[in-house]
Parts: sequence; C-alpha cells; structure tokens
Amino acid sequence: MKSAELRQKFLEFFEKRGHKIVPSASLIPQDTTTLFNSAGMQPLVPYLLGEKHPAGKRIVDIQKCFRTVDIDEVGDDTHNTFFEMLGNWSLGDYWKEDSIRWSFEFLTDKNELNIPIQRLAVSCFGGDENAPKDEESAKIWENIGISKERIIFLPKEDNWWGPVGESGPCGPDTEIFYWKNNNVPVPQKFDPTDKNWVEIWNNVFMQYVKTADGEYMTAEQKNVDTGMGFERTLAVLNGYENIYETDVLQPLISKISEYTNSEDFRGKRIVADHIRATTFMISDGIEFSNTDRGYVMRRILRKAAYYCNSMNLEKIGLADLVEIVIKIYEGVYPLDGNKVCQSVKKEVSLFSKTLATGKKKYEEGEDAFILFTTYGFPPELIKELDKENGKERDWVLFEQKMKEHQELSRTASAGMFKGGLADHEPATVKLHTAHHLLLAALQELFGKQVKQRGSNINQERLRIDFSFDRKITPEEIKKLEDIVNDKIGQGLDVVRREMPIGEAQKIGAEMEFGVKYGNTVSVYFIEDKKGNTVSKEFCGGPHVANTKELGKFKIVKEEASSQGVRRIKAILQ
Ligand code: ALA
Repeated sequence: MKSAELRQKFLEFFEKRGHKIVPSASLIPQDTTTLFNSAGMQPLVPYLLGEKHPAGKRIVDIQKCFRTVDIDEVGDDTHNTFFEMLGNWSLGDYWKEDSIRWSFEFLTDKNELNIPIQRLAVSCFGGDENAPKDEESAKIWENIGISKERIIFLPKEDNWWGPVGESGPCGPDTEIFYWKNNNVPVPQKFDPTDKNWVEIWNNVFMQYVKTADGEYMTAEQKNVDTGMGFERTLAVLNGYENIYETDVLQPLISKISEYTNSEDFRGKRIVADHIRATTFMISDGIEFSNTDRGYVMRRILRKAAYYCNSMNLEKIGLADLVEIVIKIYEGVYPLDGNKVCQSVKKEVSLFSKTLATGKKKYEEGEDAFILFTTYGFPPELIKELDKENGKERDWVLFEQKMKEHQELSRTASAGMFKGGLADHEPATVKLHTAHHLLLAALQELFGKQVKQRGSNINQERLRIDFSFDRKITPEEIKKLEDIVNDKIGQGLDVVRREMPIGEAQKIGAEMEFGVKYGNTVSVYFIEDKKGNTVSKEFCGGPHVANTKELGKFKIVKEEASSQGVRRIKAILQ
C-alpha cells in the first residue's frame, strides 16, 4: 500500500462516521511550553479542555509531528524524528466502545487495512492510585474477538498518555500491536518486550486533567484521542522490515545509495530522516540558530552532514535530497523548496569547516570538552566518531566540565561580554580572539588606562566599547591594525588557565569595570615567543588555539559610543 492510499482510507473511514477532516497544524505549537508539536493532541488542547471546535465534536486529522525523545534511536527499524500521526477525535462525544470498535474495524476490515486479527495484540492500563484498572477497554477488546492472552495490563509508564508538558488533559490508553515477523509464527501469548510486536495505534481516553501541582482531577469533558504512527503502519501493511522501505522514505535511501558505496545503513537512514525533518521545519518557518527550535534543527542537519561526509557523498549535497523530499510530498503538504535548499546549503557550508577541524583535532586525540568549546564540534558527533573507533569516554566528566564552563561563561557574560558572543561558530571564535588582541593593542598604543566597557561579537564582525575621550586618527587606526596583524603573524598560542580570583587580580588580568566575578575565574593568555604576555583577560572563552588561525585584521568603523567611550568595529579578512 502506498502512503496516499493509507491517508485517504483513514480520512474517509472516519469521515463516513461523522468526523470532519481538519488539516495538520504547523510543527510550531501555538502554546510555547514545548518546542514542537509532538503529537496530534497538542494543537487541540483548548478543545480537549472544553472550548468548542469550529468543526464540531468529531474530528479526523493527520498531524505533522517532531519528537526529539527518540533521536538517538533514529537509524533503527521504527524510529523517526519527523513523522505523521493519523488521529480521530471525540471532543466530549463518543467513548471507549466506539473508539475501540472503529479502530478494530479499520485495521481488520477487508475493505480497509485487512490485517488478520491473529497478528494483533493490545495493552490496557493496569490501574494505580490515580485511576482504576481499565477493565472496560479490555472487555470491549475481548468481545470483539481478541483472545485473552493477547490482552495485557501495563502500568502508567506504558499505558497512560499526557499531559504534554507539566499539566493538562491526560488519561489511560489502550495500545494496539502488530506482529511484524513473517518468518516466525505469531505466539499465542502477547509479550510486549518481544521486538516483533510493533505498536501501531494508541487510543487515549482523556478523562483526567493533571494540575500544575501534580494532582489528577476528573475532566469535565471526556475525550478520545487516537494516534496511529503513519510510517510504522505503512511499513507493516507492506510487510516491510523497516519504515525506510515505505514510499515516504525509500526514494531518499535509494538516492543516497546511488551515490555512495558505503554499507552504513544506519548512516543512510539518519541522513534520510534528518533531511526530511529539516525540510518540514524550514517550511514551517524555523531558522537555524543556537537556541530552541533553530538549535535542534541545526543539530540534526549537522548530524546528517556528518554522515554525508563519512559516507563520501560528495556528489550529491543535502540540498539535492531536499528536492526528493519535496517530490515525495507533492500535493500533500506545501513545502518551500527554494527556501529550504538555500538555508540548507548555507548551513552545510558553515558547518563544513567545523567538521574538518573537529575531525582533525579528534584524530589528534583532543579532549571532548575542548573539541566542543574550542572547535564547536558537538558531543553527538564525538559520540558517533567514538562508536566508529570503538572508543569509550567519560561523559560524566565532560558534563562536569561543561557545568563549570557554563558557570564561568555566565560570570563573564554578566558584563564582560555584554550582548555576548552570538554563537560559537569558528568565525565568531576567531573574532573573539581578535577582540583580545585589539584591547591589548589599544593599551599598547594609548596606555593601560584604556578599559573595555562593552563588547559584542558575531560571525561577521567584532565590536568593542572602551574608555577613551577623543576621536582616533586614521594614522592611529592604521597603527592598531598593524599591532594586531603583527601578533597574528607571529602565530602565538592562546592558553586558558583557571585560577582563584585573587591571583588573577594580582597578575593584573584585564577585567571589565563594574562586573562581578566568581571565586574561581578563567583567564585567557596570549604570550609571545619570548614568554612576554601580550594579553591576559578574564574570559569564559572560547578562543582559537593559535593566533595564526585569524587571517587579516581590519578596522571598519570608529565612532563615539557615549560620553568618554569610543566604539570600534572590526573584521577578519
Ligand atoms: N496522543 C497519543 C499519542 O501520541 C495518541 O500516542
């Protein structure tokens, strides 16, 4: 069965039973407590709580979802980040009997999915202090014809859905499993730990509302929320071993396989999943960034780029795969091909340098903490490399160092980096080191009384505010540039040392006026070949390892910032 047929069958089945078809909401939720819509219920929460839905009390939809919880699982047979979820909804209307019967009918009717009943099993909620055992659902299943041995009761971890976030609608659920193995006869007794049983559909009976202080209240309106995993169901209906054989993913896998000799099926699946997700995310308005949604998207795209690189997929870029995604979903979802291709190309080129340097430093045996903080090489990619190299690493130690690092950076960003480093991209990090050299040059030319008053650095330029009470002449600008370029040319090491604040003050490390620092501080030193200090600043990093990485320094603007404070903007060419 093809994807189009499954979508159509599902919508029509429930439409015939009084449901109105509503289109998928965006991946970006309206309420901002979560980053993404990760289930069909999220966009419907107000209606689950009693607001009247314009389409009425019975709704059927196919919701685009994105989940990060299973991100490390992607590459196996059944997990995705992006997926579609088929759902039918009763907003204070029908209840368990209709819901279960319709699910059963849709799955087993020969005009619908025609799944043999022998291949199905179900689980129901086993009960706890908040809600009773769901005997009612179990009885309905039994009456329909599911044998007792195929009905089991499980605790809240397994058979309860919601709320999404801290509070909101939730309730016990009953899950439907399919025996996917064609070579092993279906066992009489249902054992959910046997991986041959794949969960395909979940019917949630939302009769509770969890409050912010953790209590379960009986809901005023009882709802049914069902969610069927589209890709999984499509796979099992076709007798496929995995979701990547379905027509919503297979064209990507085959395109990738055309261009690489690699047999890394997991890598191929990761690329396929992540580029598909990215295409949907950008089309819904998400942009690459270092925070929130944009950061999640950056991480998955970079992981995809990493795999393209490791499988030697030079001949096709991720942007070429975007076109395949667009073709797969033509007429189903409006996707913005041009915008996606452009953003993806830009992000891949930004990342390619980080990847090359990161891999080189990895091979040189650099520590994970340094790889991340100095070279911007993310932990998940270090983990991938470790896997390839059969290397074990102490991630607890890494987390510990990161925590200390973040505390130091916070102290620093409280003032020294007003406005902060925009990100930890290589270009920004280089300008950050150039910033230290410029402050040192200002002091060399005008004296130690020149102090930093503010700073802002992004990938394009650095900006420094400093105490000085007159305009700087073009000759002086030239001199400053020469001093900085001279230090760059000397190829000086940039070294980070941690020390008690008293010691840092004693050695006269540069600190910004009015900023409070912690007890232990991080100081970045740049020393010349004779061991003379060129620069020493309180700073949380990150920096390049050696000034020769910087290129040519150029001041592009000098102006007044406020009374007695001047501002310089500079770039690296
Ligand atoms: N909201 C339920 C789920 O996502 C149906 O499994």
